[in-house]
Amino acid sequence: MTIISTQYASGIVAATEKAAIASSMLIGLGDEKAADQKAVDAMRTALNQIDFRGRIVIGEGERDEAPMLYIGEEVGTGRNHEVDIALDPLEGTTITAKGMPNSLSVIAAAQRGGLLYAPDTYMNKIAVGGNLPDDIIDLDATTKENIQSIADAKKVPINEVTACVLERSRHDSIIEDLRSIGAKIVLIPDGDVAGIIMTTQEHSSVDIYMGVGGAPEGVLAAAALQCIGGQMQTRLVINNEDEKIRAEKIGIKDLNKKYSLDELAHGDIIFSATGVTEGTMVRGVRTNQNKYVTHSLVLRTGESSSQYIETYHDIN
Ligand code: FBP
Repeated sequence: MTIISTQYASGIVAATEKAAIASSMLIGLGDEKAADQKAVDAMRTALNQIDFRGRIVIGEGERDEAPMLYIGEEVGTGRNHEVDIALDPLEGTTITAKGMPNSLSVIAAAQRGGLLYAPDTYMNKIAVGGNLPDDIIDLDATTKENIQSIADAKKVPINEVTACVLERSRHDSIIEDLRSIGAKIVLIPDGDVAGIIMTTQEHSSVDIYMGVGGAPEGVLAAAALQCIGGQMQTRLVINNEDEKIRAEKIGIKDLNKKYSLDELAHGDIIFSATGVTEGTMVRGVRTNQNKYVTHSLVLRTGESSSQYIETYHDIN
């Protein structure tokens, strides 16, 4: 059944497009919060126009800390199907505020229960794209073992395997290990949803994503991989008592659980990512005479090919 990914596709894509346009007004202006707020407001308005019973499972935060698009908030007109929604109105607030590449507005939607309820903590992630033998990566294996498995499967030397890693000091040892075995590295300043999707894109050199980023972003990326094909494993990173309480509050029983791709996202899924700033995956928002032009990557279960949508919106 592909009801969610067909019936609600245009509404979901419109919501990421509207959020991308709104936040693009603040590209490079140095105000991360304002850019995020613009995206949140526009996305919420657009979601509330969709004829569904939407419920946010990954959002801007918990009810007491996020006034809008909080976890548990209901969106839509309240008619038709129950839909679970993971969203990040502006994935890459800092890169947008600095006018750097690859910020996105992102939504994944699935049938009720199709997306993991993840707390707003960190998550350790490892991911590869499609067309590789099953179980080729293991979050608990060493960096060298994972890279060697990919090199063997692709029948290439290790120096032809490229890993994408968020540039953070917590990743110093991963980066050191990759360099010591001669693997190539793409360091990204932010935006690991795009980093993970890059493993699936033919025009990208990235073979594997590894490292710790946001748990909400992990679920969003998993939804994309579930549509387009790929493998992913994750584990929550719980750093303190407050995070432990928050994870338990949303029903996580085993804080050390290793999640498979199916446990992160499964079923009937639509994923839409619209570029805010220029990107390697999709172009950023542009103006053309009296139109805004948006570029979106749209993925759906049952369709292993990516759809790229260019939309012209009247500025008025
Ligand atoms: P924001 O859009 O909230 O700024 O997140 C960007 C991001 O780079 C994510 O892609 C990533 O998962 C997370 O931040 C990493 O967190 P941190 O910047 O704390 O290392």
